[in-house]
Amino acid sequence: MIMKPRLRKFALTAHVTSSVGLLGAVAGFLALAVAGLASTDAETVRAAYLAMNLLAEFIIVPLMLASLVIGIIQSLGTRWGLFRYYWVLAKLALTVLATVVLLFQMDSIGLLAGIAAKTTPASADLGQQIRLVIHSAGGLLVLIVPVALSVYKPPGATRYGFRKAQEATDLPR
Ligand code: HEM
Repeated sequence: MIMKPRLRKFALTAHVTSSVGLLGAVAGFLALAVAGLASTDAETVRAAYLAMNLLAEFIIVPLMLASLVIGIIQSLGTRWGLFRYYWVLAKLALTVLATVVLLFQMDSIGLLAGIAAKTTPASADLGQQIRLVIHSAGGLLVLIVPVALSVYKPPGATRYGFRKAQEATDLPR
């Protein structure tokens, strides 16, 4: 079902707000993860992990899910479709991948925040601290690709997309 222009604009506003907002939130998370790993000030380290937990739970996860769900609605409600263009498929794959990686990191984030609430993370937690820096830096890079794909919308259509486009232009016999 194709969305009416007003609804489409509304959904697009929500989609761009959530997905580009997500990029900013992940950049903030990365800055905190680096501070948590590199700072020599115990208070800064503890504050960083407590803030990262809040940021992940209340901003990053909701924005990631909103971006994914609204993106799928946008695709199905416009002529882009979900499986017709490679740029839409690539965005879907990258966003699902980023969501899965994020959800798998939530335990580590909660664990480090739990430690930071009582004391400073010790060298035994170093592996997890490094992993959070790597994952948030990777997530940031991975999420920039959908922005470029959305703006350029490279023309490549899938076989299914070609068939659908042909059906749409076929005159009734
Ligand atoms: C975090 C990941 C994402 C980012 C950063 C992102 C970013 C954007 C941006 C900036 C636009 C506006 C482009 C424009 O029209 O000028 C857009 C549009 C669009 N996005 Fe996403 N997006 C993401 C995820 C998704 C997902 C998962 C899907 C669905 C599979 C999707 C499908 C679409 C579609 C179909 C449009 C065009 C809508 C229209 O023409 O009305 N996006 N996206």
